[in-house]
Amino acid sequence: MYLQLKQIPGPNSSILFNKEFHKLLTSKQPFHDIYHIINRMSDEYGQDGLFCLIRTPIQHLIVTDFSMAQKLLNNDNFLNRSMEYRFFHFLIQDNLFTCNQRTLRQNKRLLLPYFRIQSMNNFLENSKNFLKLLNENIDNCIDNNDGHYPNAGQIIDCFIVDSIGVNFFNTEFNTIRSGFKMTDWLEIVGELLSTGSMQIFNPIFLYIPFYNVLLFLSKKFTHLYYRFKIGIDQIITERIEAIIRNDNEKEDCKEQSANNDETMLDQMIRSRIIDGNITQMQEIRSQVNIICLAGYDTSKTSLSWCLYLLGHHQSIQQRLYDEIQQFYDRLNSNDEEITISNMKQLKYLDCCIYETLRLYNPASLIGRSTCRSIQLSNGWHIPKGVNIMFLFRRINRDPKYFHQPEIFNPERFLMNNDDNNKDNDNDDQGITIDHKRLTFFPFSGGIRPCIGKEYAMMQMRLFLINIIGRYKIQSLDQYGDAFNRLDFIHPSAKFPIQFQRR
Ligand code: HEM
Repeated sequence: MYLQLKQIPGPNSSILFNKEFHKLLTSKQPFHDIYHIINRMSDEYGQDGLFCLIRTPIQHLIVTDFSMAQKLLNNDNFLNRSMEYRFFHFLIQDNLFTCNQRTLRQNKRLLLPYFRIQSMNNFLENSKNFLKLLNENIDNCIDNNDGHYPNAGQIIDCFIVDSIGVNFFNTEFNTIRSGFKMTDWLEIVGELLSTGSMQIFNPIFLYIPFYNVLLFLSKKFTHLYYRFKIGIDQIITERIEAIIRNDNEKEDCKEQSANNDETMLDQMIRSRIIDGNITQMQEIRSQVNIICLAGYDTSKTSLSWCLYLLGHHQSIQQRLYDEIQQFYDRLNSNDEEITISNMKQLKYLDCCIYETLRLYNPASLIGRSTCRSIQLSNGWHIPKGVNIMFLFRRINRDPKYFHQPEIFNPERFLMNNDDNNKDNDNDDQGITIDHKRLTFFPFSGGIRPCIGKEYAMMQMRLFLINIIGRYKIQSLDQYGDAFNRLDFIHPSAKFPIQFQRR
């Protein structure tokens, strides 16, 4: 294998002799540090879009370029997760996020039905109700505290978590109603991932196959792990009890009707109750785990950065507000409500979301490994079992594709007036998104993309239409203060904000 990878550029020495990697053993921010090491090496070796970071004892390739990433993500030999996902597999068991080719189809079958358009319409109505509550809270804050909140991230976290609770688990977390008091177990999700990334990017992880077990030597990790597990089990147990109670009541009054309000968790529980006992508890637990981890952290992070950037870029916020106003005018004159499909008319809104995801994608990097050996068109051969990391953070800021990549400029996704491309998304307002310019992977890509994309876009569109349509927002920190360290999941923006009524 070593000889086969020799054609691919990259340093020749083993990781064992690399001083930079040795520093990671004691690093307090290993993801941050490894990102910078990889970035430096990309400048040296990444001209062809792919280079070999580690040749021995295991093989790690790094993808640095959009077109190489596109080619590989579209190749069905890349369905397996890379070895770093061992940590997640151990934490949240086998589910759509952590699984390999062997259980991919089965895991997809379990989750896909809950992401269809019919479910989205119910989700939209629930989320609208949470926004009404949020508006009441903000209005109160404007009347009593000049619209100041010390941390905008908190408001967003609560909207996302309350929506997930009701949409997927039929469970009221009540975080907005309780004045933004976070549920105990969700508070630790970010911390758990961050503690985990200390382990994943520690090179020792590469050498010890059962390194996960050693994590329990850390008191902090053990504590976080059990709090998370107990929190998830509590959600499931409460729903099992509610369903059994409900069924008994129905039987008493001989009612036969199926309950249309049942969510993903309810349906999973119902199909696994035999003679009043629940079976396959582990399978249910791992599906709840994935919604909590993949659905919560990603959406709240993206939305917090979007609000942060809009609060610091008033002219962009004003343009977005104008678009939202025109949208409301159209709805009013046609006597229409906000729906999943009419929200998509707001092209500038989508540009603001895409630009946020380009700059602050929660998934800074993803990893795959080859299920079979493959031959690239340039003649390079990648054997079976090689790990490949896609460095999205670098790809998304590549000056080859994005002029002044560090600048927040949603308009970069708009079509030039003289362009005339049939593939593009044209609306009757004459604004067009140039899909060719979406040369980045906000929701990953190819044949294993994010299953929650439509849900996340719906949540973000609805939240921003509501907030920017009602309030003028101002981020109160110095621009740049919220740009914190990189982590495996990019942390949310934490910043003081002020709301004023429009
Ligand atoms: C802005 C929000 C989101 C972003 C940026 C995002 C991004 C991503 C990315 C980049 C991946 C690929 C990960 C990898 O290959 O390692 C992914 C996968 C996944 N996401 Fe999302 N995601 C978001 C929201 C959600 C939501 C709301 C859910 C569920 C409620 C979700 C569920 C999943 C699942 C289950 C996978 C694994 C899919 C598979 O491997 O087949 N995501 N997401």
